[in-house]
Order: sequence, then structure tokens, then C-alpha cells
Amino acid sequence: MPEFTIPVIAGDGIGREIMDQGKKVLEAAGRRFGFGLDWLEMPYGADHYLKTGELLPDHAVEEMARHRAVYMGSVGDPRVEPSLLEMGIILKIRFHFDQYVNLRPVVLFEGIKGPLRRGPGPGLDMAVIRENTEDFYMGLGARAGGGLSTHRLSLERSLFRVDFNLAVDLEGEELAFNLGLISRRGAERVIRYGFELARKTGRTRLSLIDKANVIPQMYGLWREAAGEVAAGYPEIELEHVFADAATMWLVKNPERFQVVVAPNLFGDIISDLTSIICGGLGLSPGGNINPEGVSMFEPIGGSAPKYTGKNIINPLAAICSGGMMLETLGEDAAAKAIDQAVNDAMASGKIKSLSAGKMGMSTTEVGDFVASLIK
Ligand code: IPM
Ligand code: MN
Repeated sequence: MPEFTIPVIAGDGIGREIMDQGKKVLEAAGRRFGFGLDWLEMPYGADHYLKTGELLPDHAVEEMARHRAVYMGSVGDPRVEPSLLEMGIILKIRFHFDQYVNLRPVVLFEGIKGPLRRGPGPGLDMAVIRENTEDFYMGLGARAGGGLSTHRLSLERSLFRVDFNLAVDLEGEELAFNLGLISRRGAERVIRYGFELARKTGRTRLSLIDKANVIPQMYGLWREAAGEVAAGYPEIELEHVFADAATMWLVKNPERFQVVVAPNLFGDIISDLTSIICGGLGLSPGGNINPEGVSMFEPIGGSAPKYTGKNIINPLAAICSGGMMLETLGEDAAAKAIDQAVNDAMASGKIKSLSAGKMGMSTTEVGDFVASLIK
């Protein structure tokens, strides 16, 4: 019987509560489909940081490197200055393991009344793919004020190394800057992932998001890379959609989108939008995927501090993220069974709402209910 060891970071806020339900459902799937899960709990997050000053130590990253997947709850805490935990834990894992695909499926399950549900009609089944290692997320930036200042911005990644020296001369003025960056190989590999997914799932259109009209260098290269990759997939239409227009079309005609591929920052924004389209963050899983390496699975939503410890938060996104993780582990049937169980749970009408406190069940009861539906 295959046995998987999975490092787990429950993290902050409601992280522990949702991960307990995720693990419960995955274990139920393991019993049904004949594999074992051995959780390697890691303590990182706000409490650990406040106690020890440590965010994500190198030995934890080395431990993760011995496994195929990491399962993550949520990170973020009002007691810690914004960006510290996010950059020091989530982004560190994404960058260190070069998890260049952020896959965020958008499925409208039966029984869900998304804000855009217009009667019974067809459901939604879209894949949003966000480039996950480049663009404006690289942390290359500084603030400058008064007089002449010089800034050295260096960064080393698997695909390239950059070293910018910038001089800023200001008189009584203050400014801040961030540099975004897109590499051809970085663009190609995530766009190819999108085309491959389209082909594998029989989808016929890939919508490439950018703002090539106002940021022509970065997104010009992005488009060029897409054009080249697309040549290998003649059966799939490549369309270009500006990020602003995309937000409009995603609300007006969400069903016309099949596979969406977006640069990091636009992808972050668009995936919150697509998440509410299919019911909200409570139901939105995500995978940070390195197809050749270590991947990390986490719900899109945050740590929701105000709901912590009340046993009222919706655990479905964590459960579905766990389902995606099983696919990476090669347990496809179990992954499908989890999706089906969540679909059946929602279709039963017993879960009254996807929002915290309004589910008509506690967090634990939702976990038990979904686990009981694994067939
Ligand atoms: C997400 C989150 C993260 C991001 C934050 C918490 C670093 O919003 O996963 O979408 O911006 O990528
Ligand atoms: Mn986000």
C-alpha cells in the first residue's frame, strides 16, 4: 500500500480548523482507495514567529524537498506586519520550489448559488492558471526620498539572475518603485502547461491575460511566447484579453472562458473574482505546482482571524485543495471521489451556505459529512 508523507503547515487563524477537516477527508479517501497518509506537522506561522523570530527555516525547506507535496492552511495575522509572513512563508515556498503554475479550478458545483447563477443552466468548469514566480511578485523594489540614493536589487532564480543598480535623485520628493520581470522561458513553461491542460481536458480555447497595451515590454514578451507555444496546439484557439476587460467578461459571460492563463499579479486579482463567481473563497482550492518537483496545495482564502476557534468556517476549499494534492500524488480516482463528495454534499442542500457561520453545520460537521460521502 502506498504511503505518502506530507508536510503540513496549518498556519494562522482558521488554518488549523480547516486543515483538520482536509486531513480527515483525505484519510477517508486513503481508506477507500488503499493508500496511507502520514502528516508531518510543521509549526510555522505567526505564533511561531512571535515566539522564536523564525519564519520558515532552511531545515524545514530541506525536509519539504524530500516529499512530493506540501499541504498548507493559511498564513497572515494582524499582530505581524503585513507581508512578513506572506513573503517569508508562502512566497518562500513558491519561489524556492519554483512552483511556477498556480492552478485555481473554477467549478460551479451542483446546488451552489453563485452570485452569477442564472437559473439551472450549464455549470462552470474553468481552469485559471496564474504564473507564480515572476512579474511584480519578485520583491525587487525600494523606497527613496530626498537627495541622491543608489539601490542595488539582486535576485537569483532557477531561470536567471538579475542585478540592477539604480540611482534615484530627488529633491524634497519621495518615491517608491517595484520592478516586474517576465522571462521568455518563464512565460513559455506556464503557457505550455495551460495548453497541455486544455488538450488533456478537451477544452478548445485558451485566454491569455495581460496589459500589453500599456506595459508592452513585459507583456509583449509574454504574448510572443504564447504565440510560439500556441503553434504546437492548432486545435486550441489562443485569444488575448486585457486584464481590465477580462474582469468585465468574467462577470458578464463567465461560461465562455475555458482555460485562463495570467501573469502573477493579474492572476492573483482575477482568481479572487473567479472564486466568487463559483461560490466564494470558501470553496476555492489552489495548487502551487512544479510539475517536476515539490508542489504546495492551499485554499485561496486567507486566515480569517475573526472566525478563528469558532468552528464555523467553511473547510471545503481546504478539502478540495487536498483533492488536488492527491492528483499530484498519482491518486486520481481518490481526487475525483473528493470532488464528487463535495459536489454531493452541496447538492444535498444540507449545507445551507458557503459563508462562515451560515452553513447550518459546524466546520467539523461539514468535514464529517464530506468524509462520509467518499465512495
Ligand atoms: C494568494 C494570496 C497570496 C498572493 C498572498 C497571501 C501572498 O493572496 O495566494 O492569492 O498574493 O499570492
Ligand atoms: Mn490572492
